[in-house]
Amino acid sequence: MRKVDVLIIGAGAAGMMAAAEAGKRGRSVVLVDHAKKAGDKIRISGGGRCNFTNVNASYKQFLSENPRFAISPLKRFSAQDFIARVRDRKITFHEKTLGQLFCDDSAQQIIDMLLDDLRAAGVELKLQTTVQHVEKTDNGFVVELDGERVEVEKLVVATGGKSIPKMGATGFGYDLAKQFGLRLVETRPGLVPLTFDQSTLEPIKALAGVAIDPVQVRHAKTRFDEALLFTHRGLSGPAILQISSFWREGDQIGVNMLPCDDVFALLRLARQENGKRAVQTILNALLPKRVVEFLLAQQKLSGNLADLSDKKLRNLAQQIQDWQVKPTGSEGYRTAEVTLGGVATDELDNRTMEAKKVAGLYFIGEVVDMTGWLGGYNFQWAWSSAWVAGQAL
Ligand code: FDA
Repeated sequence: MRKVDVLIIGAGAAGMMAAAEAGKRGRSVVLVDHAKKAGDKIRISGGGRCNFTNVNASYKQFLSENPRFAISPLKRFSAQDFIARVRDRKITFHEKTLGQLFCDDSAQQIIDMLLDDLRAAGVELKLQTTVQHVEKTDNGFVVELDGERVEVEKLVVATGGKSIPKMGATGFGYDLAKQFGLRLVETRPGLVPLTFDQSTLEPIKALAGVAIDPVQVRHAKTRFDEALLFTHRGLSGPAILQISSFWREGDQIGVNMLPCDDVFALLRLARQENGKRAVQTILNALLPKRVVEFLLAQQKLSGNLADLSDKKLRNLAQQIQDWQVKPTGSEGYRTAEVTLGGVATDELDNRTMEAKKVAGLYFIGEVVDMTGWLGGYNFQWAWSSAWVAGQAL
């Protein structure tokens, strides 16, 4: 039986980073993945340009039973540390919005950087390899791969979440955590488009493809000011993806389509200045035409401003600034960008990411109950948690 120091399952963002760090420190490392290529999610991320971090990354942009668990890893390997590597590599990048950094050219540059780091650190990358069985021994683990048994001192689980099963996502990491008696926080899709039932969908069907930028979407005390997109099945766009991580079945969300204005005051002023103008003309200057048609149809309004009472203007303004909708579901793991929940943080030591009750077993990246907002936070968690583990392997 072959012996290696470290075996890492999952050659995604976290697995590649941890493998390179451990390899650099002179450890013998095998990195396995059942996919044909390493870093597939990096390749498709950020519309092909990879939103690789966020300059504002802190524990405050994470959902978890204990977001503060992320403080130390994010400090020890920060957004600035990852940016320094990208700069060293001469990968040019830009800030798109809200601190989100994207490659100017292609996400493949990030993958190539990580692959080069693996090579330089002497990591053995085994693709299209399935893990059949894991067994604890006195000094570590025996891992059965396709046709090969490997004895390892340290085992790292970097298998990511359940989102996009078509790309090889599995619940493997969660099953392994269960096998070793670790507690899991219930998993569910996050950063995902929300869907409506037929009756809610009917009046907005004609809006599919229309975007409003920005809106303010609210759920309880959480608010996001970003773009919204109407789809054939409901709502999407960054604002909706963000709020979807907070939303639960049965909850309503509120949408303010014109967050920067007092629409009632604006309509009254317009009526006062020139009541002969059509309400539609005023709104067309503020919102997409099809949205205006939908709003006026809902309120059964037409004609000149002069014909509309304060009450009617107030109702219209309220629908624009506090549109209450009740999604019936989400598009699920098929399109979700992330998986909420996962291995409970209180099972892990955030100085090393090692399981507290199973020496030599580590969990890093998305498989852990630490989920970022949209905007580069999830990759930063992958880099930070992996780097921390890499120093301890
Ligand atoms: P990741 O999913 O990257 O890697 C897990 C690896 O484990 C995969 O290679 C998989 O094949 C492998 N694996 C799984 N089960 C296995 C098994 N049983 N045996 C062997 N291998 C197995 N985040 C962000 O910050 N900025 C962004 O721009 C985007 N954009 C984005 C777009 C889309 C479409 C998605 C789906 C997701 C994003 N994300 C994102 C989220 C981000 O991709 C995600 O959080 C990280 O990739 C998580 O990194 P991990 O290494 O933990 O898992």
